[in-house]
Amino acid sequence: MDLQSSPQGVVAGSIPLFAGHPAHELLPISTVRTLVDSIWSGPDVVRLFNYGDEQGNRQLIDFLAARHQQCENLNIGREHLMIIGGSTWGVGMITHHLAGPGDTVLVDAPSYRDALHIFRDAKLDLQAIAIDDGGVIVDEMERRLRDLASVRRRPKFYYVVPNFQNPTGITLARERRQAIVDLSKEYGFVIVEDDVYRDIRFVDDLPPSFYALSRGENVLRLGTFSKTLAPGLRIGWLIGPAETVKRFVTSGMLRMGGGANPFAAAIVADFCSSGRWEEHVARLRNQYKLRRDCALAALDAVMPDSARWTRPEGGYFIWLQLPDYVTVDELEGQAQAENVYFASGKGFFVHPEDGAHHLRLSFSYVPLDDLRSGIATLGRIIKGARRSHRSRRSRRH
Ligand SMILES: Cc1ncc(COP(=O)(O)O)c(C=O)c1O
Repeated sequence: MDLQSSPQGVVAGSIPLFAGHPAHELLPISTVRTLVDSIWSGPDVVRLFNYGDEQGNRQLIDFLAARHQQCENLNIGREHLMIIGGSTWGVGMITHHLAGPGDTVLVDAPSYRDALHIFRDAKLDLQAIAIDDGGVIVDEMERRLRDLASVRRRPKFYYVVPNFQNPTGITLARERRQAIVDLSKEYGFVIVEDDVYRDIRFVDDLPPSFYALSRGENVLRLGTFSKTLAPGLRIGWLIGPAETVKRFVTSGMLRMGGGANPFAAAIVADFCSSGRWEEHVARLRNQYKLRRDCALAALDAVMPDSARWTRPEGGYFIWLQLPDYVTVDELEGQAQAENVYFASGKGFFVHPEDGAHHLRLSFSYVPLDDLRSGIATLGRIIKGARRSHRSRRSRRH
């Protein structure tokens, strides 16, 4: 692979286990080309070269409404949906409209690194709540909410990746979702549900979304085509209460620039409406499951007993907890010297030192052979650190 064809941040010739990108071979490039050809020769091409409707592509909105009805039995009218330029756009827009400098926002510890960047840019007060295998620990959230209330602070929103979380791959348990909906009503905060990995699942069922549990009240839900079609198309969607969607659609940003990426949205709309969607997503699930299985088998084979890792049922990521005798900084330096790159756990915490023994491995992007050999390299370095730790200890005694 040369640098020209490498996506954001990938060093040519390396094993980029950090990359949360779709696999090259799963990008629907030739299908998109056919769709572009037909748009090009169709009647709408001039309109698509112009500013778009503020709410976004109507055909795509209708597809999404029908799909949520069919898959989740959610009755969503057009007024509850808008097309956005990827989930990132949604997180930025929500932050801009719901919170200002100094306002409090709840996040998981760990949480999605790039969302933390957006919140830091906006100078928000970030309150991080610990998670375990079932997602955020509700008792801790409740305790924090009480503490904040005692100093007259109310979080503006709680940001959560409920399914196959980035970075841990953990899915938030159903009963916790209900408890959080109850807390959001009691303490008056919005739930921002960044549901970008929902379609990449290796199990049949998922817990209901926050949006479903709260019957659409007080929840803003984000989705994206980045993980299923291509991040370069920059198309996602937002679902929320009609008055909030209206507020966003009539905001200065959309008035000035129109709706999100009209040309790309037309391609995505045609892709979805052509009957290709279900088959495409089924293929992705199979292929990413193979990669997940390969990564887990490699970890089982090479990691020492004292390392721990998650076994995600979907998404792109595995979260690895290192043994006490090696820090992520030590591992990172040695791994990079061998051309293996991963995402340090430190970036995913509000307090970076909380991630000093953690890292995120992505199984979505690299070929299976690289996945195996990259993980084998990490295992070898970690075991080497154990040997030098033991010999240092025995010299001291
Ligand atoms: C949790 C989460 N939200 C949002 C994004 C970015 O989505 P988009 O490409 O739709 O902006 C990612 C991509 O890694 C993600 O993991």
